[in-house]
Amino acid sequence: MIPHAPYGDRLAAVYDQMYPHIEIDTEATIALLTELCPAPARVLEFGIGTGRIALPLAARGYEVYGIDGSPAMLTKLKEKDPDGRVSAEIGDFTTQGTGREFDLIVVVLNTFFSAVTKERQLSCLKLVREQLAPRGRFVVEVFEPTPFHSLERPSLTVRHLGCNAIMLDTISVDRSMQLMVGVHTILDGGVPETTQHVMRYAFPNELDLLAEACGLRLEQRWGDFSKQAFTAASQRHVSVYV
Ligand SMILES: C[S@@+](CC[C@H](N)C(=O)[O-])C[C@H]1O[C@@H](n2cnc3c(N)ncnc32)[C@H](O)[C@@H]1O
Repeated sequence: MIPHAPYGDRLAAVYDQMYPHIEIDTEATIALLTELCPAPARVLEFGIGTGRIALPLAARGYEVYGIDGSPAMLTKLKEKDPDGRVSAEIGDFTTQGTGREFDLIVVVLNTFFSAVTKERQLSCLKLVREQLAPRGRFVVEVFEPTPFHSLERPSLTVRHLGCNAIMLDTISVDRSMQLMVGVHTILDGGVPETTQHVMRYAFPNELDLLAEACGLRLEQRWGDFSKQAFTAASQRHVSVYV
């Protein structure tokens, strides 16, 4: 089974409520991606999910292809894309390629860290190299791990999902393995449902080294999609490799 499938399968029903506009700026994401790789162009998204990024890109004239391990996420995507402007397949982006080349490959919202070992991350980056067209770009967006790496006890946050539903998120880390375990619990009046989500985080320098080992070079790093500088205070980064 694709290691990450349960995350998508169990959260697909609420996924689009988990990330309201205030938390992630999808418009800024699309603006930067279109600047880095103007249309028309071929785009591959790893962990395409419900199409938050893929659908606006397809609407702007890109040929968009996606891979996701979760059938439920792809069902949601299909519901939002009845005309089939986006092509997507079930698969594991850390082990299988598409056999095609793309001008832009993207993996956003920490999805790269769902490859839970260094070996899987390397395998994913090798597949990026193989599928990246000459002069193509690879864009990764992940969190900066320092605040999590220094967690002494599990953290708890609450998300608002709707007027009758909240989600409790607990995060704990195993520093020795660079593993973060997130547990999402939905409270909506029914039986509480819990979904575990494991990520292997890498610090930016390690990410660059892993990418270099696979023939990719860091071209640019920002603190977010609106091109804020990446500084010691940045909580996330958007890194572009060529
Ligand atoms: C955080 S969601 C991001 C979805 C979408 N890219 C977005 O920005 O809204 C992560 C998605 O990646 C998928 N995923 C995680 N690891 C994967 C893997 N190794 N292979 C394929 N899909 C994976 C999950 O099923 C989920 O749909």
